[in-house]
Amino acid sequence: MRLIGGEEHKSNEQPENENESNNEQEEFTLGLGLPHQSTRLVVGYALTSKKTKSFLQPKLENLARNKGIVFVAIDQSRPLSDQGPFDVILHKLFGKQWRQILEDYREKYPEVTVLDPPSAIKHVSNRQSMLQDVTNINLCDCHGKVGVPKQLVITEDPLSIPDAVTEAGLVLPLVSKPLIVDGSAKSHLLSLAYDQLSLSKLDPPLVLQEFVNHGGVVFKVYIVGEAIKVVRRFSLPDINKLELLNNAGVFRFPRVSCAAASADDADLDPSVAELPPRPLLEKLSRELRQRLGLQLFNIDMIREHGTRDHFYVIDINYFPGKWNFFLIDILNIPQQL
Ligand SMILES: Nc1ncnc2c1ncn2[C@@H]1O[C@H](COP(=O)(O)OP(=O)(O)O)[C@@H](O)[C@H]1O
Ligand SMILES: [Mg+2]
Repeated sequence: MRLIGGEEHKSNEQPENENESNNEQEEFTLGLGLPHQSTRLVVGYALTSKKTKSFLQPKLENLARNKGIVFVAIDQSRPLSDQGPFDVILHKLFGKQWRQILEDYREKYPEVTVLDPPSAIKHVSNRQSMLQDVTNINLCDCHGKVGVPKQLVITEDPLSIPDAVTEAGLVLPLVSKPLIVDGSAKSHLLSLAYDQLSLSKLDPPLVLQEFVNHGGVVFKVYIVGEAIKVVRRFSLPDINKLELLNNAGVFRFPRVSCAAASADDADLDPSVAELPPRPLLEKLSRELRQRLGLQLFNIDMIREHGTRDHFYVIDINYFPGKWNFFLIDILNIPQQL
């Protein structure tokens, strides 16, 4: 970690002693990433103006400043190497050009922590690859099972969907999700399909996922390095067999993850409201962090209704909205520094 206090503010050059620098880097990435009071950590951020507004609220900036962390806006119209020096680059921008700029920068300045590497983010921006790692994790002895709803990717020809669904053995109703998540509102426009024929009205590329009844509650698990926070949100209600028989068509549903009210204080059936077991969440997030190569992300999990311990991961998001509230919690915990 580069120290500024007292020392001359040098440019972003390669450190003379690489081992020393790597150790310090490790200290940053393995812990919560918070510097000691006497040090200063410069976080360059490249975010859309909307994201900057929601993330970098005065409360967070003040708390961070007291801990020796300063946030500096990256000017996207200037070369990245001319800016800084940075200890950390925090970003959420999409596009090939930005990915390339960051990859080049990482190569040139390996001592700077880029949260997170562009290739790892790309992996979770495709709903096909996003959940692949979940299925490979062995969670035995963790008080529960975690899977992924059965799903099918359709890249073209909507007319082929009904047959493809039969062939894959997917059971209705199905949730249709745009294949690529690129930060646009469109990539979060989901639909619920009740009958096979209507599936041909959908607009590929998309992922079709079996709808899993889960008592109308989704668990949002926020992960920042080794720290985890889980909250409940209201979700789509269960769909019973009668409803399925009496309904046909494809129904758009609004962006549940944004609109959903907190269900943390709601008067819910305890078997639905009970949070996933801590050991399960810890192992799952540790494994996912390693396999995905990400430090800042969130997973959406549901519990199959009627079971105590059968969970599904339905979504993974890089650097999600609301994440700053969690960061404020972390910055407020003195013993973690
Ligand atoms: N397979 C599924 N079974 C039941 N509900 C689902 C399923 N997939 C998504 N949902 C519901 O739709 C919401 C949004 O889905 P999600 O995959 O998180 O997309 P996004 O957050 O990108 O809009 C979830 O929070 C949940 O309420
Ligand atoms: Mg989601």
